[in-house]
Amino acid sequence: MPKKICIVGASGKVGRYMIGHALDRGYEVVGVCREQSVDKLADVADRITIVPGPTDDRDVIARAVEGCDAVLVVLVPWGMKHYASGTAQAVLDLAPTDARLIFSCGWHITRDGQDVYSWKVRFLVGAMGRLAPIIRVVDLNDQVEAARRIFASDRRWTVVRGSDLEEGESQGLPVWSRHVGDPVLASNLTRRTDFALFMVAAVDDEELVHEAPAIVGRLTPSARAHARTEETA
Ligand SMILES: NC(=O)c1ccc[n+]([C@@H]2O[C@H](COP(=O)([O-])OP(=O)(O)OC[C@H]3O[C@@H](n4cnc5c(N)ncnc54)[C@H](OP(=O)(O)O)[C@@H]3O)[C@@H](O)[C@H]2O)c1
Repeated sequence: MPKKICIVGASGKVGRYMIGHALDRGYEVVGVCREQSVDKLADVADRITIVPGPTDDRDVIARAVEGCDAVLVVLVPWGMKHYASGTAQAVLDLAPTDARLIFSCGWHITRDGQDVYSWKVRFLVGAMGRLAPIIRVVDLNDQVEAARRIFASDRRWTVVRGSDLEEGESQGLPVWSRHVGDPVLASNLTRRTDFALFMVAAVDDEELVHEAPAIVGRLTPSARAHARTEETA
C-alpha cells in the first residue's frame, strides 16, 4: 500500500518540487492550495487530489489530512492574520495521531537559542520584524509563534530550516546540522528542489523526529570541506 501524504502549500515553488519527489516515490498525494492557485497545479491535477482553500482553514485541513501517513507543510508568514500559526495549529490538531508532520521554515527560526547568526541574517530579520506592522505583508513573528507551538507539541514533528535557496538541478539530499553557525553550514545555499527532497525524505527518517535540522546543499564548499574532515578523522 503506497504512503498517502498531504502537502500544505502545494502550489508554491517548494510545494511543487515536493509533489514531484513524492510522486517519484509512488506516494498518493493530496495538495492544499489557495483557491486562486489551483491552476498552478494543472499539469499534475490528474495525478494528485487537490483540496482548495486557505491553509489555516481547519475544515480544509481536516478534509485534506484524513488518512494521511505524513503531512508536509510550507510554513509562510504572509499577512498579519496569524496565517503561519493558524496553519501549524490546524495540522497539529487535525492530522492523524501517528502521522509524520514536517514543516518548512528558514534559518531564522531557532529551537534552543544556540544558533549563531551572521550580521546579515540578524539585520534582515530585525528589519523585517520592525517593518512588519507598517507594511503588513509578512509577519515573521507569527512564523516564530508557529514554530514555538510545533516545538512544544508531542506530535511526530520535524522542522526543516532552509538556508538561502537557489534554482538548479538537484545536488542530492542536503546535509544538516543542529545549529546555524556550525561550520558545515557556512555556505548558506541549497537548491530549492533539494530543500523539497529533504522534506519528503524526512517522512521515512525516524532520526529526524523532534529535530529542527538546518540544511545546506551537499555540494557546497562548506559541506564538501566538512565531508573531507570526516573522511580523514
Ligand atoms: N525564499 C527563500 O530564500 C527561503 C529561504 C529559506 C527558507 N525558506 C522557506 O521555504 C518556504 C517557502 O519557500 P519559497 O520562498 O520557495 O516560497 P514558495 O515555495 O513559493 O511558497 C510560497 C507559498 O506561500 C503562499 N503564498 C504566497 N502569497 C500568499 C499570500 N498572500 N497569502 C497566503 N499564502 C501565500 C504560496 O501559495 P500560492 O501558490 O497560493 O501563492 C506558496 O504556498 C517557507 O517555509 C520559507 O520559510 C525560504
